[in-house]
Amino acid sequence: MKIVTSVEALRDQLRGQLRTAFVPTMGNLHEGHLSLMRLAARHGDPVVASIFVNRLQFGPNEDFDKYPRTFEDDCEKLSKEGVYVLFAPDEHELYPEPQEYRVSPPSDLGDILEGEFRPGFFVGVTTVVLKLFSCVQPRAAVFGKKDYQQLMIVRNMCRQFALPTEIVAAETVRAADGLALSSRNGFLSARERSEAGSLFAELLAIQAEVRGGARDLAGLEAASRARLAARGWIPDYIAIRRRVDLKPVGAQDLARGEPLLVLAAARLGSTRLIDNLEI
Ligand code: PAF
Repeated sequence: MKIVTSVEALRDQLRGQLRTAFVPTMGNLHEGHLSLMRLAARHGDPVVASIFVNRLQFGPNEDFDKYPRTFEDDCEKLSKEGVYVLFAPDEHELYPEPQEYRVSPPSDLGDILEGEFRPGFFVGVTTVVLKLFSCVQPRAAVFGKKDYQQLMIVRNMCRQFALPTEIVAAETVRAADGLALSSRNGFLSARERSEAGSLFAELLAIQAEVRGGARDLAGLEAASRARLAARGWIPDYIAIRRRVDLKPVGAQDLARGEPLLVLAAARLGSTRLIDNLEI
């Protein structure tokens, strides 16, 4: 695996490659990321990964400095997966001057759910993803469904800017108790870790209720929030939404069987976890 840290070296490595499949990451790689690399290999060749902890997408009180950096270990894992190039720029390389031009997702998608609780997050994500795409020029790029809203926003951005990159969605990889794999799981204490699986259990319970014909969605969301709070969580949201645009579900949507999903974000101690499940 070639490790390149400059845009120029990356372009040299990829010159003439028309079928590149790309997986952008912030490092601290786990099995979930590795599954994205394997899916990328089915959608193009060579596979290019990036590791860049993107300051632009962190709020002032978020964990940018604390974000785990495990570069050596990450390189070993990527190399075993057969990744051809790892692009690992430092901040000065990717943002040599203040990034004044930014991508602004529409507020009805970018300012809801994660966007409501993490103002500026999706502007930071789409700006860096557009910039990484401009450096790598991938034919396909893989994003995990665990960050469902991010996946949708990036996909819509590509469509609206007519970017030649197909966005491929990867299923969420889970631990045995259902907890979605995430770099932030490493912040959980042993006690919190043993509780953490109950977030997915709540999503499964809501899925079962809705599939079973429950129609009071607001009631289901509120009951789930209350159960989590009683177990020591601080929920930001539990929201049943339309899969197509993440908008709230109306009676007509239920009547015509509109595809839905339930999304959740909640804090356990000082760790904020997110997850979702298609219904
Ligand atoms: O999902 C992530 O790890 C990040 O948001 C991404 C897509 C690498 C952009 O920094």
